[in-house]
Amino acid sequence: MGDATTAGRPETATAPETAESVPPGLDEAGLRLDVDGAVATVTLNRPERRNAMTFATWRGLAAIGRSLPAGVRVVVLRGEGPSFSAGIDLGMFSGGAGGEGFTGGADAEGTDRFIAGLQEGYTWLRRPDIVSVAAVHGHAIGAGFQLALACDIRVIAEDTRFCMKEPALGLVPDLTGTKPLVEIVGVGRALELCLTARTVLADEAARIGLAETVVPREGLDGAVRDLADALLAVNPGAAAATKRLLWQAAENTLDEQCAAERREQIGRLREVFGS
Ligand code: CAA
Repeated sequence: MGDATTAGRPETATAPETAESVPPGLDEAGLRLDVDGAVATVTLNRPERRNAMTFATWRGLAAIGRSLPAGVRVVVLRGEGPSFSAGIDLGMFSGGAGGEGFTGGADAEGTDRFIAGLQEGYTWLRRPDIVSVAAVHGHAIGAGFQLALACDIRVIAEDTRFCMKEPALGLVPDLTGTKPLVEIVGVGRALELCLTARTVLADEAARIGLAETVVPREGLDGAVRDLADALLAVNPGAAAATKRLLWQAAENTLDEQCAAERREQIGRLREVFGS
């Protein structure tokens, strides 16, 4: 499927030049966007379908990323109802739920472009000018698990159940999830999780790094609000520069990373001390 090797590289992703209002069609895509000052909350909003996602959902997410108001610094992804997301809407496999033209074209090139368009719904969450926070509860399956993985930070409720279901359906995880999964848990654990499609409960998720914080279900919204407040207390330029640094650290040599730190610090020094 599409080349996700650069998915979410913050140094290649940029903020939109113009801020538009809420993109049209979010309702039909099963999404809601609430912007409150510097915090944007994206709600997966098909609770009666356990927030199952369609092509429209992924395109809606991409549209939100493109039109996010410039002042937004924290983006929270959450799910309405009992689950974060039950993953892809299974109705699409039989041509329902907007699933027509599943391969996006007869040839591999067309399908590659088609999937790349869907992946855009996820990659913007690594942009350096924002911090993305997945607020997860209940099931986060397949595309839902990958959406949580696409975020910078995961705060999860005690009832969270992660599952990478794709291989059990004959598919691969192609919504940018394989890279963060391997970065977080390593290849061996990623293989074990994906190829057994087993469920990871909250305790284990925290232990293997899939969650930064686990809280009681009723404390999830409050914990995310507190985190957003703490993130907003930091200088925006320093936050973006530090995010750029941290996301490239694993792939850089020590020399490259030292040079990157110097480059970023020169910019910070100029801004902070004006020289
Ligand atoms: N697609 C469409 N509808 C779904 C759905 C999905 N993924 N998940 C749940 N629903 C619907 C159910 O059909 C049900 O509808 P009705 O009320 O009309 O019967 C409703 O949502 C509630 O679901 P349940 O009664 O099953 O609720 P539950 O709480 O008992 O179970 C669940 C929740 C464990 C998530 C279960 O619904 C389930 O296993 N769903 C399927 C999960 C799945 O296999 N997802 C695909 C993952 S692969 C992927 O996402 C990536 C990819 O590209 C292939």
